[in-house]
Amino acid sequence: KVIVIDFGGQYNQLVARRVRECNVYCEIYSYKTDLAKIKEMNPKGIILTGGPDSCYLENSATCSKELFELGIPVLGLCYGAQLMQHVLGGKVEKAPVREYGKTEVFVDNTSKLFANVSEKTICWMSHFDYISNVAPEFKIIAHTADCPVAAAENADKNLYAIQFHPEVLHTVEGTKMLENFVKGICGCNGTWKMDSFVERTIEEIKEKVGDGKVLLALSGGVDSSVAAGLLSRAIGKQLTCVFVDHGLLRKDEGNQVESVFGENGNFDLNFIRVNAADRYYAKLKGVEEPEKKRKIIGEEFIRIFEEEAKKIGAVDFLAQGTIYPDVVESGLGGESAVIKSHHNVGGLPDFVDFKEIIEPLRDLFKDEVRKAGLELGIPEDLVYRQPFPGPGLGIRIIGEVNAKKVQIVQDADAIYREEVDKAAKEWKAQHNNENPSWKPDQYFAALTNMRSVGVMGDERTYDYAVALRAVKTIDFMTAEAAEIPFEVLQTVMSRIINEVKGINRVFYDLTSKPPGTIEME
Ligand code: XMP
Repeated sequence: KVIVIDFGGQYNQLVARRVRECNVYCEIYSYKTDLAKIKEMNPKGIILTGGPDSCYLENSATCSKELFELGIPVLGLCYGAQLMQHVLGGKVEKAPVREYGKTEVFVDNTSKLFANVSEKTICWMSHFDYISNVAPEFKIIAHTADCPVAAAENADKNLYAIQFHPEVLHTVEGTKMLENFVKGICGCNGTWKMDSFVERTIEEIKEKVGDGKVLLALSGGVDSSVAAGLLSRAIGKQLTCVFVDHGLLRKDEGNQVESVFGENGNFDLNFIRVNAADRYYAKLKGVEEPEKKRKIIGEEFIRIFEEEAKKIGAVDFLAQGTIYPDVVESGLGGESAVIKSHHNVGGLPDFVDFKEIIEPLRDLFKDEVRKAGLELGIPEDLVYRQPFPGPGLGIRIIGEVNAKKVQIVQDADAIYREEVDKAAKEWKAQHNNENPSWKPDQYFAALTNMRSVGVMGDERTYDYAVALRAVKTIDFMTAEAAEIPFEVLQTVMSRIINEVKGINRVFYDLTSKPPGTIEME
C-alpha cells in the first residue's frame, strides 16, 4: 500500500482517491503520526499532501528528515514538495507571483514521474510560497512562466516534489503522473479493487465490534444502506437497523427498503420498521410554514428513534453512514479547514446510550460508496437512487401535508420518474450507450397548493396542479432546469392527468438555482 501524509490541504482525500483509481490501496495519516509507525506499515510509497502553512515559519506542520532516508519513494505535493525541499536543504520563500488556477507547465518527460506526459501540459496551481532553490542532489524537472521549480527529483533516492496539484482534475495529465509514481516508481502492481475495501472493512468492523451491539438508523438512502450492508456482513444479528417510515417516502419506497433489509431480504440483521405515517400526519395537520414542517419532521424522527433505542437498551456502537464529503463540509476532515457544518456529522444524538460511534464509509466519495454497495449485493436501483431529502415529500407538498396529498404526489412522481427513465434508456440505446445531455441529476414531482378549474369528460373539475422539477447540477449548490424533450413531458402530463385523481394541471418548473432552490420548500 501507499500512505498519504496529511498536512491539512483541501484536496487530500482526492489524492487518496486518485491513488485508489490506479487500483492501488492507500490510507491517509496525519503528519503527526510517529515515524516508527510509518516504518512499521512498510508502505511501498509515501505521498506528502498540500497544506495551508509556510514551511519556513515556526510551528508549521513538518516531518523529520529521516522520512526521506527510509529508502521508500516519497512524492511531495505543493506544501509537501516545499517541505521536502526545506527539510533537505533547499530554499522556500514567499513567491513574487502567487499562482492560482490552470497554468501551463513545461515538463521534462524523460523523468520517470512524467513518463508519457506531454512536454507542455495544463496543471492546477495554488500556492503563495515557492521553491527558489532545490535541495542538493535535486534536479528541476518542470517549470512555469512564474515558477522556476514546478517539479524536482532526486531519482537515485526516489524523491519527487511537485508544486502543482496532480490530484485535481484540472491537471489534465495528473492521474498519469500519480500512476507513474505509484506504479512506475513505487512498483505497486495495481491489482487492488473495491472488493478489497469491502473485505478489509468487514474485517476491521469485526475486530472493532467484537461481540458488541451496533445500532444504525437506516433511511433507505445510499449511504446508510451501504453502511448497513457492510455491518451486516461483518457482524450479522449484532446489528439492529431502525427504519422509520414517516409516510413521506416515495411510492413503494418503504416496501423496497424492507424487501432488501427486512426478514426476507439479502442481509442478516435485526430490521425494525416503524410505520409512523399517522403520527407524522397528525403532527403536520394544519401546519403550512416550510421551516416549521421541517422542524416537526426532524423532531419526530428523533423521538421515534429514541423510543426504539430505549426498547433495545444500551448498545456499544452507534453506526452512521457518514461519507467523506460530509466530513469535509463539517470541517472534521483530517487536518483541513472548516467550510460549513453538515447535518449528518457532529450533531450526534445524545439520547441513545452508546459508547462509540462507528463510520465505515468515512473515507469514501459517493461514487466509491456506490461501488461498494454493488459489491455487497445491494440492488442497483437502490445504489443509484437519486438524492432524496430527509423531510421527504413533506417539503414537496406545498402547504399542509395530509395522507391524500401524499398519495397524489407519490403517484404523479412515480409516473414522471418512470417516463423519464424510460426515455433516457431508449435514448442511450440509440446513441452508443451514452447518456442524453438532458438527463437530469435530480427530478421529481411536487404538489403545488394551487387548485384550478379544468374539464374532464363533460365535467368541470377543480383540482390541484402538480409541478415537475428536473435539474442538471454538479454539486447541488447551483442548478439549471434540465431540457427534457417536449414529447416526454407531454406523455408524463397526459398520464398524470388520466391516472392520478385529484390533479388536473401539470407545470414544468424552469427555475435555476439560484434564485430558486431545488426543492420547493
Ligand atoms: P435545495 O432545495 O437546498 O436542495 O436546493 C439541494 C439538495 O439538497 C437536498 N435537500 C436535503 N437533503 N435534508 C437532506 O438530506 C434536507 O433537509 C434537504 N433539503 C434539501 C435536495 O434534495 C437537493 O438534492
